Amino acid sequence: MSTTITAGHQTITDNTRGISAAIELKNVNKNYKFHGDTVCALQDINLAISEREFVAITGPSGSGKSTLLQIVGGLERPSSGKVFVTSKNIATYHDGALAAFRGKEIGFVFQSFYLQPFLTVEQNIQLPGIFAHIRPKDRADRVRSLLQQIGLEGYDKHLPRQLSGGQIQRVAIARALFHPPKILLADEPTGNLDQENSTHIVRLFQTIRAEFGITVIIVTHNNEIAQIADREIKLNNGRLL
Ligand SMILES: Nc1ncnc2c1ncn2[C@@H]1O[C@H](COP(=O)(O)OP(=O)(O)OP(=O)(O)O)[C@@H](O)[C@H]1O
Ligand SMILES: [Mg+2]
Repeated sequence: MSTTITAGHQTITDNTRGISAAIELKNVNKNYKFHGDTVCALQDINLAISEREFVAITGPSGSGKSTLLQIVGGLERPSSGKVFVTSKNIATYHDGALAAFRGKEIGFVFQSFYLQPFLTVEQNIQLPGIFAHIRPKDRADRVRSLLQQIGLEGYDKHLPRQLSGGQIQRVAIARALFHPPKILLADEPTGNLDQENSTHIVRLFQTIRAEFGITVIIVTHNNEIAQIADREIKLNNGRLL
């Protein structure tokens, strides 16, 4: 059967497999065990996100937003259900395959993934390239273009502690774009930032969306981000509204 999904500027149709989205979650549940209790973080999530779509995930604290992002990015497996990312069901992957999948397809901007404090901005951004054995000259070229894109030219030799919170967040975004990924996931990228820094980040995501042509999913409480997104997905109590 033919399925059609409209995402922002484009329509994607796939007649071959019935899977027409960059990301598709089918009947996904996620339970966490905590001191003998079971916490139900996600319940029966069915969701399709198309290629190049820009999605904002919103909802109260504890509603399952970060859990959803971690499942899409292969950092957590669902307790049940299927998670198709670029047509592969990553819910069935073992640890090694999940790690390879993350390295190849996903860029993460998570608050818990801090920059390495003893590495400079330049070294932090090219870290994924070092792991992938990319030549130093190519890494340096890529860093230069990313620094320009995030508006931090001349900051290559700074250490994270010499940067503002917003600048750190921009460097984290540049690092996530190093390869560049097919899917960029960001968890509260403007959390803890003042208005000015937060506006910088919003503009940067607009640029990324326009220039990189990748799928972007952002967990946010920021209205500006929710407004520039193609779609806002609302979670409450582990369920989609
Ligand atoms: N590793 C874990 N072990 C046990 N419970 C967890 C774990 N991670 C999340 N939870 C629980 O799952 C539920 C959803 O958590 P999640 O972090 O996804 O919420 P959230 O919407 O991102 O919240 P916030 O806006 O505060 O970041 C919460 O009840 C939380 O306590
Ligand atoms: Mg969270």
